Amino acid sequence: MNILTFNQEEDFVQAGTNLIVSLLQSNPRAVLGLATGSSPLGIYARLAKMYAKGLVSFAEASSYNLDEYVGLSEDHPQSYHNFMNHNLFQHIDLDPSRIHIPNGNAEDLEAECQSYDNLLEENGPIDLQLLGIGHNGHIGFNEPSDHLNGSTHVVDLLDETLAANARFFTSMDDVPKQAVTMSVGSILKARQIVLLARGAEKAEAIKAAVHGPITTQCPASLLQCHPNVILLLDQAAGRLL
Ligand code: GLP
Repeated sequence: MNILTFNQEEDFVQAGTNLIVSLLQSNPRAVLGLATGSSPLGIYARLAKMYAKGLVSFAEASSYNLDEYVGLSEDHPQSYHNFMNHNLFQHIDLDPSRIHIPNGNAEDLEAECQSYDNLLEENGPIDLQLLGIGHNGHIGFNEPSDHLNGSTHVVDLLDETLAANARFFTSMDDVPKQAVTMSVGSILKARQIVLLARGAEKAEAIKAAVHGPITTQCPASLLQCHPNVILLLDQAAGRLL
């Protein structure tokens, strides 16, 4: 793992943005794996600004998002569809027909998972996969568990994840209990993985991901098996390394 720790938010954002922009410059048809959460927000804002200035184009690229809540309408303020539109897609020239996000409202979720995997198989591999990390070491919504799921699947979110997500909803009852997530297997197929983490509350998860045993109890630790992972951290998230 290549670990880069930054003192300044500005440098963290610039490093992540540079990785995506240089990929698109060398391969305009790049397949991007995108993440939600607060960690990539600065990068998305910077990409939008660069697009506005004509410094980058997504016109031939395609994107696959990691996950989506089950049962939230796409236009719900907290859906990941809405998050991505609001924070990135509406500001850039990525062709909507090449944007992919799991449909958490599909009538047949099993079929939806299968068709997401088929798309990834046909159009992949993902060239650059952005990841955040949960407090419990989850990536996408692959929660700590005794077993590893090899394909896109519906996951029951753990209590700690529900608690972390509660801040975005008016009450605990409104927090979605399930999500559709790409598997760790699909994530590991990406050519390059860029894991982002900011803040002291991520320090334990980062330590476990980097130095801990490789275990499904910390899904991010499975990234140790991948040959091309870059961690972009702020000082607080990297303080236990
Ligand atoms: C959610 C997402 C994850 C993301 C995590 C971290 O759980 N499903 O993909 O990595 O949030 O979010 P943040 O970047 O806000 O800490």
